[in-house]
Amino acid sequence: MAAQEKKASSAASTRQATLAVDGKTVTFPVYDGVEGPSVFDISKLYAETGLFTFDSGFMSTASCESKITFIDGDAGILRYRGYDIDMLAEKSDFLEVSYLLLNGDLPNVAQKKEFDRTITLHTMIHEQLHFLYRGFPRASHPMAVMAGAAASLAAFYHDSLDVNDVAQRELSAFRLIAKMPTLAAMAYKYSVGQPFIYPQNDMGFAENFLNMMFATPCEKYTVNPVLARAMDKILILHADHEQNASTSTVRMAGSSGANPFACMSAGIASLWGPAHGGANEAVINMLREIGDVKHIPEFITKVKDKNSNVRLMGFGHRVYKNYDPRAKVLRSTLEEVLAELGKIDEPLLKIAIELERIALSDEYFVSRKLYPNVDFYSGIIYRAMGIPSKMFTVLFAVARTAGWIAQWKEMMDDPKNKIARPRQLFTGSQPRPFVPVEKR
Ligand code: CMC
Repeated sequence: MAAQEKKASSAASTRQATLAVDGKTVTFPVYDGVEGPSVFDISKLYAETGLFTFDSGFMSTASCESKITFIDGDAGILRYRGYDIDMLAEKSDFLEVSYLLLNGDLPNVAQKKEFDRTITLHTMIHEQLHFLYRGFPRASHPMAVMAGAAASLAAFYHDSLDVNDVAQRELSAFRLIAKMPTLAAMAYKYSVGQPFIYPQNDMGFAENFLNMMFATPCEKYTVNPVLARAMDKILILHADHEQNASTSTVRMAGSSGANPFACMSAGIASLWGPAHGGANEAVINMLREIGDVKHIPEFITKVKDKNSNVRLMGFGHRVYKNYDPRAKVLRSTLEEVLAELGKIDEPLLKIAIELERIALSDEYFVSRKLYPNVDFYSGIIYRAMGIPSKMFTVLFAVARTAGWIAQWKEMMDDPKNKIARPRQLFTGSQPRPFVPVEKR
C-alpha cells in the first residue's frame, strides 16, 4: 500500500500534453494515478496563455489529489483505501471503516479498541444544544436542523477549532463522527415530540443510533441485531464516495481555513439536494406516487418524455455507467431485513423490483447506461425499519461525515493546500453608465 501510494504522488510526470492555441504551443505535465484516468496539470495555463479552462459540472476535472477512495464507474468498482466496498460491508464495521478512511490502513486489535472507545466517549452532546433544537418548529425538515446543529458545534468546542493544529484536527474528527448520530436521532425525536434519548456507551455504533431513535424512557427497548447490522452496513456503503458534490463542498469550504464543524454543515447543505443525497427520500416519494405496479408503464413514459422533467429517482450516476456496487449490497441487505421483519410483501418493494426490471431492459435506460444507484434500495430498507422518509438523507449525512472529515483532514494535512478559487467565463453586461433611479 505504501509503495502504491508513493507511485501515485504527483511528483512523477511521465508524459506531456501539448496544446496549440493562437499560434502558441504550450506543454503540460501528465501525472498517472495508481488507477483511473491520468491527468494533465493545467495550473500554469493562464500564466502561459491568458486562457482558463471551462468545465461546467466538472465533467473532466480532477479537483484534487487523493489517496482515500477509488471509483471505476465503467466497471462498477468502489474501494476505500484499496479495499473493495462489498468486502468492507461484509467483513468490517462502520467505526473500523471510519478509522480506515481517516488513517489509511485498517486498525490492529489495540488500535481498533482505542478508536471505538474514543468515539464512544464523544457521543454525548453539550446539554445546552437541547435549547437550539427547541428553537426549531417541530415540522422542520431534519436536514435543516442538522445543518444548523452541525455548525453550532463550533460554538461549543473552542478547543478543537484551530485547523492548523494536527491534534485539534483529529479531535474534531472524533467529535463529528461520534456526535452526528446523536444529533440525527435528536432531530427525529424532536419532530415526533418524544424526549431525547442519551447515547449508551455499552452499545455498538449502529445499535446505539437505533436505540436513540426508537427507545423511550417509558419501557425497555431492545435493538434487533439484524437491523443493527443492516444499519451498520448501510453506513459503511455511504461513508465516502470520492469527490462528489458534498465532499467537494466540504473541501471548498475548508480550503479557506474554515473550522471543520462549519465545513460539515456546508456538506450537509449540498447533500440535501435531490440529485445527491436527497434522492433516497425522493425514491420513496416516487414509489408512493406510482402507487401500484400497474401504473409503472405510464410513469416510465413520463420519465422518457423530455418535457416532463420527471426522472427515475435512484437511477443514473455521474460516475457509474454500470450497476452501482453499493446498490448490489443493499439489494441483499434489503432481503435480509425484510426476511427478519416478515415484510416480504412490502408493496413499494414490488414496485421497485418491477421498475428495476423494466429499466434494465428498456432501450432509453440501457443506451444511457442508467443503473440503480445507492439510493434506490436504501429508502426501502429504512422504511421497513420504521425510519421516516425525512430522515433518510440525514442517515446519509451521518455516514458521509466519516468521508467528509477524512477528505477534509487529507486536504488540511497537505502542505500544498491552497484556497479553492475557480474562475469564470463572463457573459454579463459590458461596462455601462449608472442612471439615477428617477431617470430609468
Ligand atoms: N431518469 C431518467 N433519465 C435520466 C436519469 C434518470 N434518473 N438520469 C439521467 N438521465 C438521462 C438524462 O435525461 C440525459 O439524457 P439525454 O442524454 O437524452 O439528455 C442522460 O441520461 C444523461 O444525464 P445527465 O443528467 O447529463 O447525467 P448527470 O451525470 O449530470 O446526472 C444524476 C447524474 C445522478 C444527477 C442523474 O442521473 C439523476 O438525476 N438521477 C436521479 C437522481 C438520483 O438518483 N441521484 C442519486 C445519485 S447517487 C447518490 C449520490 O450521489 O448522492
